[in-house]
Amino acid sequence: MNRKFLVTAALPYSNGRLHVGHVAGAYLPADIFARYLRSNGDDVRFICGSDDNGVAIEISSRKENTTPAELSARYNARQSADFDGLGIRFDIFGGTHQPAFVETHNRISQDFFKTIHANGHFVKRTTDQLYDAQAAKFLPDRYVSGRCYHKLPNGLPCNNPTALGDQCEQCGNSIDALKLIDPVSTITGSRPETRTTTHWYLQLDKFQGMLADWFSLTSLDWRPIVTNFSLGSIKSGLPERAMTRDLTWGVPVPLDDPDAAGKVLYVWFDAPIGYVSFTAELCKQRDGDPEKYKDWWQNPDCKIVHFIGEDNIVFHALIWPAMLMGTQFSAEEMQKRGSIYTGPKGAGHFQLPYNVVANAFLNIRFPGKEEEKISKSRGTAVWIEDYLRSFDPDPLRYYLTINAPEAQRTSWSFDDFVERNNSELIATLGNFVNRWQKIVTDDFARKVPAATNPETLETDLLAKIHKLPVEVAADLEAARFKAGLGRIMEAFRECNRYIDTRAPWTSRKTDMARTATTIHTCIQAVRTLGVLLEPFLPFAAEKIRASLNVTQNAWTWPRATEPLPDGHSLGPIPEVLFKKLDPKDFALTGQQ
Ligand code: MF3
Ligand code: ZN
Repeated sequence: MNRKFLVTAALPYSNGRLHVGHVAGAYLPADIFARYLRSNGDDVRFICGSDDNGVAIEISSRKENTTPAELSARYNARQSADFDGLGIRFDIFGGTHQPAFVETHNRISQDFFKTIHANGHFVKRTTDQLYDAQAAKFLPDRYVSGRCYHKLPNGLPCNNPTALGDQCEQCGNSIDALKLIDPVSTITGSRPETRTTTHWYLQLDKFQGMLADWFSLTSLDWRPIVTNFSLGSIKSGLPERAMTRDLTWGVPVPLDDPDAAGKVLYVWFDAPIGYVSFTAELCKQRDGDPEKYKDWWQNPDCKIVHFIGEDNIVFHALIWPAMLMGTQFSAEEMQKRGSIYTGPKGAGHFQLPYNVVANAFLNIRFPGKEEEKISKSRGTAVWIEDYLRSFDPDPLRYYLTINAPEAQRTSWSFDDFVERNNSELIATLGNFVNRWQKIVTDDFARKVPAATNPETLETDLLAKIHKLPVEVAADLEAARFKAGLGRIMEAFRECNRYIDTRAPWTSRKTDMARTATTIHTCIQAVRTLGVLLEPFLPFAAEKIRASLNVTQNAWTWPRATEPLPDGHSLGPIPEVLFKKLDPKDFALTGQQ
């Protein structure tokens, strides 16, 4: 096969730690997908890194009394360690302003801007902007809050009193900061004044026709939360957006124009280009040539898949594709085509995403409390650093997948987490892997015994399990992670029923041939299921692989149904796969 996939996970802002909501939203499903593709033998690059530019980082660094460079380097390192601890294995973890990346990142971002500019997609405008006189700063959208002026679908005013200047969390609409009712600067708390400034606006309305065509060509099997939101936004019209900012921290605006002096690109312009610039850095490391990024980004045979949280949909499914189209087509060309899109231009042009996979948010439920939103300021978050200090990564990966917010919000509940660990990971999965270990050790010297008298119970079970690689692959390729894992767990339940029926601990006293057939069947079942578990629970899967003594080469998706030969020597009895948990173990997590 050898298909090519470029998989990305949203770049986390490097001004904070990661919590379970981040992991559930983008990074874990992306990692499962990338691991599956690697196991399948596809050519895959999994790209992430921190989102270091923009005002959020600048303001946080001010609050922490440091520089944006120091702050973003520190959080970049902590996030990278969190990902490592969870087994989220990127091919590269960059950072848009990290020393090893910033040069390439700025160059590629500036090239993007210049191409889109030369293609006639920006309009330069001088407008009023909110200005915080106390901080002597133009206020970026996110640093103004006020009352939302939008109407809800039911016609009533939204009236959210804490809408931010870019987006309202209550109604989901984007916000024009100047229209906010009773605006307040979130930097100083003062009421901002209005001053004029000049910026470059991307004419998103001109892309509406082509974006709509692109959606009908591409998004048939995308998640409804992505397509519904995007098609709805196109229908109601895409407002133009300023792609430059009055800031010093970021990518300098690459125009020979006095009005561009001292300005940087909007962070949402350069951030997705981080996917490209980190790919270039990866190509430099691996092939000695950063320009090889074009094999991934400008190659119609490479499938680009973005994993994001739901608040990122507008940026990845509309603005980023418009930017990419803006590099392919000039404004004039678009107009000549009547804004009709029939497919991307070929090799040598930036290609549009193959899929944009978004998850909804994860809520949280503390024991004895109502479900609530994860909030840093209210201390209602489970931080990955804290979690990893006491617990193993796989149970978290399991819970956040089996309970993934794929179609709507779900919640992290401590009781449910503990319960599923104990009843599903331990009593179902771990138990089945362990139940026959003593018998294969004592009676068969840890060698796969021959199945001399299989009956339909055996052949049916294995036939069913041998269909799983194809079925789970179909789930994963359609981004149904929860369903894929559910299918594997269902097979483990079936395996437990099988071994209960055969009861080898009893049959071994009277019927060695029967016992051998049973144990043989259990081993082959685990051989297949272990491979399928790898993308989801890589740590447990590795222990299973070692205990079966299967080589890495044979531990791949296409070889998952290859039986272990009779007489094959197993490895040692696996170490404990999952530890029993008690709700009390979490007494301290989430406070602070
Ligand atoms: N930093 C953004 C967030 O956390 C995500 C950026 S994704 C990128 O919401 F594509 F723009 F990089
Ligand atoms: Zn609103």
